[in-house]
Amino acid sequence: MTLYGVGLGPGEADLVTVRGKAVLEDADVVYSPGRLSRTVALNHVAESKIGDLDFPMTKDEEKLRAAWKEAAAEIAPNARDGDVAFVTLGDPNVYSTFGHLRRTIDAFHPEVELEIVPGVSAVTAFATAMGVEIEAGAGLSLREAASGHSPTGPDRMILFKVTDAPATHEGLVEAGYDVTYGRRLFMEQGDTIVTDDPADIDERDYYTLAYAEKEDLEVEQATAAFETDSTGSELRSDGGRELADDELAALERAEGRAGGDCGGYRGGKR
Ligand SMILES: C[S@@+](CC[C@H](N)C(=O)[O-])C[C@H]1O[C@@H](n2cnc3c(N)ncnc32)[C@H](O)[C@@H]1O
Repeated sequence: MTLYGVGLGPGEADLVTVRGKAVLEDADVVYSPGRLSRTVALNHVAESKIGDLDFPMTKDEEKLRAAWKEAAAEIAPNARDGDVAFVTLGDPNVYSTFGHLRRTIDAFHPEVELEIVPGVSAVTAFATAMGVEIEAGAGLSLREAASGHSPTGPDRMILFKVTDAPATHEGLVEAGYDVTYGRRLFMEQGDTIVTDDPADIDERDYYTLAYAEKEDLEVEQATAAFETDSTGSELRSDGGRELADDELAALERAEGRAGGDCGGYRGGKR
């Protein structure tokens, strides 16, 4: 039958997708690689369905390969006889342990069918949690910044695995970035923190990311020309003239033609 890789989202039980929840409910066994993913899965399945896997905390590739072979050997017979799920936080295809399992199953148990249920990744959840908008036309690069590393280059970056925020911050500020940190975003376990100050999160917590944007970055959207009056009650164009309903509709149609759902029109350039 099938091994499903199920993305659980960032950590709140109701951010599991409808499809993910259905797969978990139908699965004979739900394997989890860690404590947090196990806790989220337990909101949707009985503890008796959880299958435990043992992963050593090591970077030794030989030991890791042996552990994944062992995990695949445990999972494969159950996935041949029925449906099983392997859960990961976020999305199974973004910096995830599921990749190791998929490669090991492909190599040693090619008869097992695989299907992936995408999850809400921290790559997208961060934007809402931190009040960031990635506007149409803007770029966003994904990097890792473990052990105080400060990758630089792109105008905007999301940095995963920020384990030493003060050290990472120093390098980013030196390279001209504004940085905001997000810890345990949309997560039930632990405290959620969003801050510009690395001192607030100097204690190591693996579930920490950063959003870095070049401080001189200028992005103008057509709608950035709107502003409210002093009471904040009226929407005006930058010329101070209130837009009539038909003018607003025409503007929206023009933006729709230019970019459809992606709102591709840019009122200016960088
Ligand atoms: C191994 S990656 C897993 C990413 C996951 N597969 C996803 O799609 O979100 C773990 C890193 O993702 C980031 N991360 C994942 N979930 C997070 C959350 N809820 N809040 C903040 N950072 C998170 C952290 O930087 C963490 O070190």
